[in-house]
Amino acid sequence: MFVGIDLGTSALKAVLVDGNQHVIGSHSYPLRVSSPKPGWNEQAPQDWWTALLGAMDALAAAHPAEMAQVKGMGLSGQQHGAVLLGREGDVLRPCILWNDVRAVAQCAEFERRFPQSREICGNIAMPGFTAPKLLWVAEHEPAVFAATRHVLLPKAWLRYRMTGDMIEDMSDAAGSLWLDVGRRCWSDNALAATGLRRDDMPALVEGTAPAGVLDAALARRWGMKARPVMAGGAGDNAAGAVGLGAVRAGSSFLSLGTSGVLWVTTDRFRPHPQGGIHAFCHAVPDTWHQMGVTLSAASSLAWWARTTGMAEPDLLAELPARVTWPSPVVFLPYLSGERTPYNDGRIRGMFAGLSHNTTRADMTQAVLEGVAFSFRDVVDALADAGSIVTQADVIGGGSNSRTWVSILSSVTGLSLHRLAHGEQGGAFGAARLARIAVTGEAVDAVCLPRQREETLDPDPELARAYAAPLAFYRRLYPALRSAMDAQAT
Ligand code: XUL
Repeated sequence: MFVGIDLGTSALKAVLVDGNQHVIGSHSYPLRVSSPKPGWNEQAPQDWWTALLGAMDALAAAHPAEMAQVKGMGLSGQQHGAVLLGREGDVLRPCILWNDVRAVAQCAEFERRFPQSREICGNIAMPGFTAPKLLWVAEHEPAVFAATRHVLLPKAWLRYRMTGDMIEDMSDAAGSLWLDVGRRCWSDNALAATGLRRDDMPALVEGTAPAGVLDAALARRWGMKARPVMAGGAGDNAAGAVGLGAVRAGSSFLSLGTSGVLWVTTDRFRPHPQGGIHAFCHAVPDTWHQMGVTLSAASSLAWWARTTGMAEPDLLAELPARVTWPSPVVFLPYLSGERTPYNDGRIRGMFAGLSHNTTRADMTQAVLEGVAFSFRDVVDALADAGSIVTQADVIGGGSNSRTWVSILSSVTGLSLHRLAHGEQGGAFGAARLARIAVTGEAVDAVCLPRQREETLDPDPELARAYAAPLAFYRRLYPALRSAMDAQAT
């Protein structure tokens, strides 16, 4: 019996998986994001802890017999966030999250201090990544920076609370911009560019390796007979890939979660920073990946639901199950800036083409299409980076909407597979990593593909109809950027 825990942005989810890889039970505990200023996104680590206890206590109450047998636990987590700890391991300030874009100026400064960063770290410095956040803290909160003794990514902080050990896995560490991604070790030069040393950083392991043992009191609280081994675990996207069996070169998936991700597994480190493509380590040894990220995917629909005072399912119910024609409105989903392809933390979203005839349903459809257009930019950027994607499994909360997945397919040209038995996201992948850490089984033997429920292929007529709004969408970004530049001068 294995437990996988995914520390997401909108919820923490825990799943219990048996030896046949069946999900026996799962529990989610919601999380909120605080946005003290536009483009700023933070969470208090203590809230993650409350969520962990809430989800695990509920799982233990529902499945006491199975929980007693748990041998291993795995962690998956939202990437890039900076948890700053003082000498006693105390949390010094709220975690600055992956979708926080306050550190735009610090990205340029990081690259000035470490000119080889793109080659070594595999990425353009982007404000979502961890290293520029530290420069921001040093500049704006010098007392906090001076007190910082350790920097952990979100799931590594959970592990620290669960085991007392400071350990990070390669896939999550790669998203910090402090890792030598090709060599899979900390880069002293990258650390020095933000005033840090190796001593400030957690130990590194592969995601499949053992990394700590659960605290005895927690094991007792959850009715476990023995203290389970924790696996290195993974960043949430790598954990999602493990859960889908996307562990060999060329395998791909699309995540329609809070953020939108298109992922391709690679057998070597293949940086292509132009076009905002990320090149990171995978959570399994000797494996890497490329991915493009659109920052506001399911979170665009969540924003629209909040704004209209509607529930998301009710908004979606106003659309046909399969749309046949593009919305007359075009939406730019840049609610907290954009990564791929623009790397623009300051851009913001817009609706274009509103008229007296515009309905709420037109605008809902525009939101879904805007996210799909943004995925189309990612598909093209990945192709420029040498990864041609033609089909992908779809995961993330948005994958529950058949309408959205069919729009995505026609806009991107990808055949998209919806999974049977619902999808468990990173939590299921984390449980697989726990199993490998405990049993030492081969990665391929455990990371099997998931069963697919249906495949949605592009509708040729709709795909043709999307050519014009896609071209319009692509003209809007430079127009908006230059209007913002003119405004700033
Ligand atoms: C990936 C990224 C997001 C978060 C979401 O680079 O920033 O997908 O991991 O949790």
